[in-house]
Amino acid sequence: MAGEIYRKPITLALMATVAILVGSIVTMAYPMLRADMHPKLETLRPFTPLQLAGRDIYQREGCVGCHTQTIRPLASEVARYGDYSKAGEFAYDHPFLWGSKRTGPDLAREGGLRPDGWHYQHYANPQQMAAKSNMPSYGWLKGRPLDPVEVAAHLNALGMVHPELKADPAAVKAALAGKDELDALVAYTQQLGHAVQRRQGGSANLDLENPLARDTQAIVAGKKLFTENCAACHGDEAQGTDGVAPSLIDDVFLGAKGDLPDGAYFAMIDGGSDAKPIAGRTGDPGGGMDAYGKTGQLKKDEIWSIIAWLRNQKGHEAAEGHDMPEAEKKP
Ligand code: HEC
Ligand code: HEC
Repeated sequence: MAGEIYRKPITLALMATVAILVGSIVTMAYPMLRADMHPKLETLRPFTPLQLAGRDIYQREGCVGCHTQTIRPLASEVARYGDYSKAGEFAYDHPFLWGSKRTGPDLAREGGLRPDGWHYQHYANPQQMAAKSNMPSYGWLKGRPLDPVEVAAHLNALGMVHPELKADPAAVKAALAGKDELDALVAYTQQLGHAVQRRQGGSANLDLENPLARDTQAIVAGKKLFTENCAACHGDEAQGTDGVAPSLIDDVFLGAKGDLPDGAYFAMIDGGSDAKPIAGRTGDPGGGMDAYGKTGQLKKDEIWSIIAWLRNQKGHEAAEGHDMPEAEKKP
């Protein structure tokens, strides 16, 4: 009889245990041993000693308490941060630093989004780069030495699972020579998301004309938008800042001499560094310019307003008899 078993508690317990064990092995243990459960993107590069040292600092300082490192497949996240996170990106992450608290932005695609110089300044003084930031300062990491013995031990421990990470102490020592904890943290930050192309850059249409070129109100609005979004890197008057971002009022564009038309400015502000190459120019291989239009941070006419102001800065418009708007004349 089927009901019989329920009157034999010991037999029932034993059979239930066996059933659960078999279930666990089939659904958990067996897949765990299969290689296809541990995907690794072909583009994924192992941590260098400096990057791994930076990762240790990231863990030690509890950055995970304010930042996630995983982009969910939701339209809003993909629009803001780029392609959603793939399992194969995290093969070398032991443990994962996905996190669940987003006081600050997600960092899964942070690498290449901003120049190194920006990160040094931001870690030293977050409020200088983002006025309302509540991120603490990590400037004190500067000058603090790294321990090559510890980093080599960490690499070799990971090497038990990933032989390509194994490193001999002399090589690690050489790789860390002259570097401090802040260098390591920046190196780690700049490799985040390297295995996945952050965004699809659009193609530049150099024939686009600025519909707001002569619109005085747009020029004033453009100045304000520039101050809020761009000045931290490009300088208050778009004159550029040392080691962070180029001047936007000179005749160099993406590292090559010769200014480009408004369409190139639009493509760069819309699609960021990933929109390159523009007119064959490739600029800084490390990138560093966000896709303000593609990510929805700026609307089309806001981008054109900024370009209108930039052109005004350059004095092109003035040369054609176009006066500076009133608000601009005030000191
Ligand atoms: C108290 C919460 C908090 C802590 C702790 C914190 N951050 Fe942040 N972080 C923020 C906020 C808020 C922002 C957005 C404003 C800004 O750029 O400063 C931010 C921005 C950033 C950015 C720039 C992201 C971008 O693209 O705009 C990076 C990189 C970053 N944090 C890294 C770190 C690292 C590394 C640590 C640990 C050493 C850390 N943060 C600790 C809150 C935090
Ligand atoms: C995080 C720092 C940062 C911010 C903020 C930033 N940029 Fe950039 N920008 C860069 C860097 C770095 C480059 C060089 C990129 C390259 O070579 O790939 C660049 C390049 C450019 C270029 C190409 C021109 C040239 O001379 O190379 C334009 C145009 C531009 N930025 C406009 C803007 C505008 C407009 C804003 C504000 C909406 C802005 N940027 C905000 C860092 C920044």
